[in-house]
Amino acid sequence: MRATPGSVIVDIIAGARPNFMKIAPIIRAFEARSAQGGPLRYRLIHTGQHYDAKMSGDFFEQLGIPAPHLNLEVGSGSHAEQTAGIMVGYEKALMEQRSAMCIVVGDVTSTMACAITAQKLWVRVGHVEGGIRSGDWTMPEEINRMVTDAITNDFFTTSEVANANLRRTGISDDQIHFVGNTMIDTLLANLDRLQKPPFWDELRLEPQRFIVLTLHRPNNVDGQGTLAALLMAVGAGAHGLPVVFPVHPRTAKTLKEIAELPVNLHFVDPQPYLEFNYLVKHAKAVITDSGGITEETTVMGVPCMTLRNSTERPETVTMGTNELLGTDPAALKPACDRLFAGGWKQGAIPPLWDGKTGPRIVTVLERLLAA
Ligand code: UD1
Repeated sequence: MRATPGSVIVDIIAGARPNFMKIAPIIRAFEARSAQGGPLRYRLIHTGQHYDAKMSGDFFEQLGIPAPHLNLEVGSGSHAEQTAGIMVGYEKALMEQRSAMCIVVGDVTSTMACAITAQKLWVRVGHVEGGIRSGDWTMPEEINRMVTDAITNDFFTTSEVANANLRRTGISDDQIHFVGNTMIDTLLANLDRLQKPPFWDELRLEPQRFIVLTLHRPNNVDGQGTLAALLMAVGAGAHGLPVVFPVHPRTAKTLKEIAELPVNLHFVDPQPYLEFNYLVKHAKAVITDSGGITEETTVMGVPCMTLRNSTERPETVTMGTNELLGTDPAALKPACDRLFAGGWKQGAIPPLWDGKTGPRIVTVLERLLAA
């Protein structure tokens, strides 16, 4: 990516699976605006935090994200190793070509590492999904959010709760851009393209007659006893329905050590975007410890049970279809009984989760960087 006279280069950072659906609509909006003669250009940088086809490449392909201009290829490692590797790689990239802004999304290690690197080189930082907080410092993502937001110049926010969190820490209104949710841009753009996964017929899945399960939080999946107890409770709570469980690589490591598992649990590989959301759309309910999935279930109106004690996305609970059950497996039975008795809430879609967030972000960027 070379700057041409009059153009302004913005770095867009992506590192791990939940980043890819968040950057896709921003890139589309950059391309649409530059085709109309706008001055902004992007340099897409993949940190390589996730590198498997199933965790990364499939998402680029399905969501039409162009190949990155640069891949830092940091790979697996401890949090400190990944953070350090990404910082060294991105610093080199910025020394070779300085950008006008570094846009980071979400809350993964790559988000924090690139924000620190950019700000130390006096490159302005924009954080998409800034301001959300779970309050739980045992989650690495919460540390990433807090550190990133402490050194962010421009916050692109998904909710009024995020705006209020930022104001409370002294952020001024002109730094807060309430634009909505890029993850929902991607969902709405792909709802008509969702694909039945190849195992659908083999498992005899029928709409509304199965449950989707995802678990990858260290607190839930790193201990063999904890994971086994949760899986037994999910299996029992499903009232005889099959449970489809796309297994995250972190979870797969613990799963190998568990001898006895419920027979209605079906383990499948991490699913590509279109197949995963096909499953969610047609599920009776989703049981998860993810944050992003609770936003997607809210928009699709699918009942969602979250196996965590806190959420950084409270509007999925106050407005949407999500309920926080905590991490005690005993909480699953009463919640599942309520679901099967038809007593789950309907939910509504939060403001500005309307599929137009990518263009709103680029409009703000043009005002900030190219005025
Ligand atoms: C990371 C993010 C988390 C996000 C999750 C989604 C942080 C701190 N956490 O957690 O917010 O919800 O991704 O997946 O950034 N691995 C592979 N192949 C890959 C990537 C990872 O096998 O392509 C393995 C790693 O070697 C490691 C494990 O999966 O053993 C976990 O990966 P890692 O990226 O360290 O953290 P996640 O738990 O995936």
